[in-house]
This record gives sequence, structure tokens and C-alpha cells, in this order.
Amino acid sequence: MSDPRRTPFTVALVCLGNICRSPMAHVVLERRVAEAGLDDRVRVVSAGTAAWHVGKPMDPRAAATLTDAGYDATRHRARQVLDAWFTGEGDEHVDLALVMDESNRADVVALAGVHAERVRMFRELDPEGPGEVPDPYYGGDEGFTEVLAMVERCAKAWVAEIGRTVGPQGQHA
Ligand code: 4NP
Repeated sequence: MSDPRRTPFTVALVCLGNICRSPMAHVVLERRVAEAGLDDRVRVVSAGTAAWHVGKPMDPRAAATLTDAGYDATRHRARQVLDAWFTGEGDEHVDLALVMDESNRADVVALAGVHAERVRMFRELDPEGPGEVPDPYYGGDEGFTEVLAMVERCAKAWVAEIGRTVGPQGQHA
């Protein structure tokens, strides 16, 4: 993670298309950040390594899985990862990029260059053990249910980790 005094601390969720896994992680992590009272200091974004779906809402199966679990899936629009996450300042700066699989990691590490330490596997903190978040795009609905369960476990762990990084309320002004 880079300078935790920067405001806001920006976390980016990354997958391939930004229509299935990373949007689900985005919506759930954003909710957990707000519940932890960190939403004034922590910003959550998401993007895909590929540009195929830029501007589109999330996959209807991802949206249905989130909606059934009580989350708002309507606001998502797909984006692509940016060089400026790692080179730029201000709005586009990313402090922590959480990637869903090894292929995403290779692509984002290449983009990050000397800032590769900001790139981590999303399941690194999974209480059930590290690994990849499997791509549910070509499978059935059960794949989306499995992704949501992983995302909910990991989001809880990441909020605790990010909370330690940005510090108690008032210190990350
Ligand atoms: P995601 O899933 O990376 O979790 O958003 C995919 C979405 C689209 C494609 C592949 C994976 N695609 O080939 O279009």
C-alpha cells in the first residue's frame, strides 16, 4: 500500500471484463466500507483489464445475485484499468489494486511497474485460504453464488485491513 495519509485512500477491484467478479466485489466492499464508517476516507472503484464491456452495466446474472442478497447492482458501469492509477495523482490515483486471478495480477503488475507492491490478490485474506476468484462468465448461476460468498468473506477481511491502514477516524484527514 502507498501513502495512507492520502485522501481518499482508493481501492480498485480488478477482473477481466469488469461485468462479473470485480463489480460484485465493488458493491459489497463499498457497503462494508460504509458500515465501518470509513466512506469519508476510503473510495472503492473497479475496472477490467479488457475494454470489451466499457460503459455497460454488470452481467445480469451478477446483478441478480447481488439484488437477491440485498445489494444495489444498478449503478455499475464497466471501466478499464488505467496507467494513471499508478502514475497519476488526484482522481485517478489507486492505492491498492485487488485482483481476482493470476492473469489479472500479471496484467496489472505490468501496468503498475515500480508500484507493483500496490497489487494484491483479492483472496489473499480469505479465511478459507488464498486462491483465485474463478471466472463465472461461461458457467451457470451457481458460479455467481460462489463468487458472492467469496466476496463477502474477503470484503470483511479487507475492511479490517484497510481500516488499520487509514487509521482511526480523524487521522486520515
Ligand atoms: P469478469 O468475467 O472478468 O468477472 O467480468 C468476464 C466477463 C466477460 C468476459 C470474460 C470474463 N468476456 O469474455 O467477455
